Amino acid sequence: MKAGVGLLSALALFLLMGAVFTQRPRPKKPSRRPATTKKPVVAKPVVPKPVFPKPVVPAQPEPQEPTDFPPPILGPPSMYADCPRECLCSPSYPNSLNCENRNIRVVPVIPGRTHYLYLQNNYISEVKAESFVNASEVRWINLANNRIHRIDKQVFEKVPSLLYLYVHRNQLKEVPPGLPASLEQLRLGRNHISKIPAGAFSKMMNLTLLDLYHNQLSDSDLGRNMFKDLKNLMQLNLAHNILKKMPDGVPNGLIQLFLDRNRIDDIPKDYFKGFNHLAFVRLNYNQLSDKGVPKAVFNISSLLDLQLSHNQLASVPLFNSHLEHLHLDHNSIESINGTLICPLPPQGLQAIQSDDSLVPKLRYLRLDGNHLNPPIPLDVIMCFRHLHSIVI
Ligand SMILES: *[C@@H]1O[C@H](CO)[C@@H](O)[C@H](O)[C@H]1NC(C)=O
Ligand SMILES: *[C@@H]1O[C@H](CO)[C@@H](O)[C@H](O)[C@H]1NC(C)=O
Ligand SMILES: *[C@@H]1O[C@H](CO)[C@@H](O)[C@H](O)[C@H]1NC(C)=O
Ligand SMILES: *[C@@H]1O[C@H](CO)[C@@H](O)[C@H](O)[C@H]1NC(C)=O
Repeated sequence: MKAGVGLLSALALFLLMGAVFTQRPRPKKPSRRPATTKKPVVAKPVVPKPVFPKPVVPAQPEPQEPTDFPPPILGPPSMYADCPRECLCSPSYPNSLNCENRNIRVVPVIPGRTHYLYLQNNYISEVKAESFVNASEVRWINLANNRIHRIDKQVFEKVPSLLYLYVHRNQLKEVPPGLPASLEQLRLGRNHISKIPAGAFSKMMNLTLLDLYHNQLSDSDLGRNMFKDLKNLMQLNLAHNILKKMPDGVPNGLIQLFLDRNRIDDIPKDYFKGFNHLAFVRLNYNQLSDKGVPKAVFNISSLLDLQLSHNQLASVPLFNSHLEHLHLDHNSIESINGTLICPLPPQGLQAIQSDDSLVPKLRYLRLDGNHLNPPIPLDVIMCFRHLHSIVI
């Protein structure tokens, strides 16, 4: 009997060590800006790999669920009786519940005093309503970087005051149904979303940020009325999906529209009509050519930053005198005519000589990776007198 116990505890120790050493490497933080330069690829000679005979591995039982992830990290005893053991409850921040980076698999029962709930960087796969029975005061929930594939609809009925919901870097296949209308920020980037239930964003009149970056959304997933109620939306990020068309029915109060890394090849002529606050438009890494870009489509007076890198444009689109940054690198531009693209006031070139406020505001221009050679044409310099950086 004794030998049996010894063997068992050795096995337990072995499993425990296994658990300690199988820490999942954390994915790197995403960089805020998409990379705009591509290093030249140097072809390496292909060296055939040496072939080794396969080592004979003795048959081993599949690791069981408890050894898949490291065990939850328990915090010190708290002065709050309702503080879950795997979280930290600081007396200085009684409304915050810090459960991030603690190998949690199941959302603990949230104390009623919680406003700010941090659950990012764990191993949660499902979010259930029972954890939120007392969580009616919760304003922010951060569930980023877990393994979530499902959030119960009833969860959102328990948190009627929710303002920020961050669920980026998970395994959702659709936008969770039943999201509360109170939301102001919704981050669902880096999931596997290919479906948005009808009315998913309805009545969200206070939503200012919607991030669906890096999912699998196609044109048919974004119905015409999808964004209809989002009267206060300021930032919409649909980059890195599989869109072929510009999304329909985008609220025209937007300030930022990010559509990088899709397959868009065409922009309707009046697409941006009525967008009076739009300042940042990114369409890097699409399939835009002159044919799909009406000449004056980007002549939007509020626009400050326009990014059209890595497309197939052969000419420079017209833009407004207020534009400050223009990215046109890695296209097929062969020449640039400063006279043609200069956004002059009706009075003409003479006027900008005498009135500095009329000089076009362009300060930064990227043109590298095209078929252009220095020098920069004189008419470009004459027109864009605020230009202090131009990359050819
Ligand atoms: C919810 O809060 C009430 C009142 O504070 C408490 O009695 C109850 O135990 C709590 N429920 C859970 C599941 O913690
Ligand atoms: C939107 O915000 C206003 C002001 O904070 C608030 O009165 C209103 O109830 C909010 N709307 C929703 C749907 O939560
Ligand atoms: C660009 O927009 C301005 C108003 O901001 C307008 O006066 C001008 O005619 C437009 N240019 C073109 C080429 O459409
Ligand atoms: C640039 O465009 C203007 C106006 O269309 C034209 O008159 C001029 O010849 C062009 N310049 C060059 C170098 O092609």
